[in-house]
Amino acid sequence: MTKPEHPTVALVGPGAIGTTIAAALHEAGRTPALFGRTAHERLELRFDGGRIVVPGPVQNDPAKIETRFDLVFVAVKSTQIAATAPWLSALCNEKTVVCVLQNGVEQKSLIAPYLPGSPVLPSVVWFPAQREADASVWLRARARLTLPDVPENSAVLAALYGTRCAVDVAADFVSVAWRKLLQNAVAGLMVLTGRRSGMFSRADIATLSLAYLRECLDVARAEGATLGDEVPQEIVDAFQRYPADMGTSILADRQTGRPLEWDCRNGVVQRCGRARGVPTPISDLVVPILAAASDGPG
Ligand SMILES: NC(=O)c1ccc[n+]([C@@H]2O[C@H](COP(=O)([O-])OP(=O)(O)OC[C@H]3O[C@@H](n4cnc5c(N)ncnc54)[C@H](OP(=O)(O)O)[C@@H]3O)[C@@H](O)[C@H]2O)c1
Repeated sequence: MTKPEHPTVALVGPGAIGTTIAAALHEAGRTPALFGRTAHERLELRFDGGRIVVPGPVQNDPAKIETRFDLVFVAVKSTQIAATAPWLSALCNEKTVVCVLQNGVEQKSLIAPYLPGSPVLPSVVWFPAQREADASVWLRARARLTLPDVPENSAVLAALYGTRCAVDVAADFVSVAWRKLLQNAVAGLMVLTGRRSGMFSRADIATLSLAYLRECLDVARAEGATLGDEVPQEIVDAFQRYPADMGTSILADRQTGRPLEWDCRNGVVQRCGRARGVPTPISDLVVPILAAASDGPG
């Protein structure tokens, strides 16, 4: 296969996921320009068997940007998109491919209002990465993304070609994205208990998780996803196999008092269920509790 031409790449939001992608690009000699809320001299990714230091700096003033990029990865939380508007207008033009590295099934509609008509490429982010107290990031599994089978994916495939972040393309991206959403939705239960993956070894939590996942599955199918009856059990089995101390980014946010991505991970099931006439009794209990934990008042 011929080595593709590499686009100019910027990354907004160098947190757990952003640092992983930046490190993969840097290791392949394609260091991206870094933009974030907090200035850092460098980024550091740790993983089994090594570490990668990505030279910065992470620029934190959008007013200083003079260049538009071919490809912009956006790896902020969904709750932070509106605040990235100054970055998006400074870095993107109508040709820039904006690849959103976020959980959820609504990446396009959430970010499009802040872009100058740029094409948006949603993705499914499959790897767990966590920010450590010293601002380094611990990558806890092999990095992998799934992209939809659309022409815009060529910029991301070229940028990440031959890097430690594998990229696959799904003909039925809707189904892949909803499958990941089911996983995210049930991980939200960790916020309610304040516990990590080990809690799924409890029989009562496994039963509740299966019931919640079956509700999410009904909604996913109503939204056009093709997912089998076995998916809820597969997801519970996977949580039971994870290391007991494996968390989830929404739990990390809860434990550090940050806003939660409750709407894009859990609220979406309730909203889509209501729009499609699918009952969501478990969401009706879980979503207000997550929303209140995130946003208060009180
Ligand atoms: N972490 C995981 O294992 C994982 C796995 C799959 C999917 N995801 C999804 O990936 C997305 C990113 O998650 P994450 O865990 O990487 O989050 P994160 O570690 O909190 O990283 C977010 C980054 O965005 C920066 N940021 C916040 N507001 C900004 C602004 N206005 N302008 C520029 N940068 C800004 C943050 O800066 P500060 O340093 O100032 O906070 C931080 O560097 C989420 O949707 C999450 O659900 C995460």
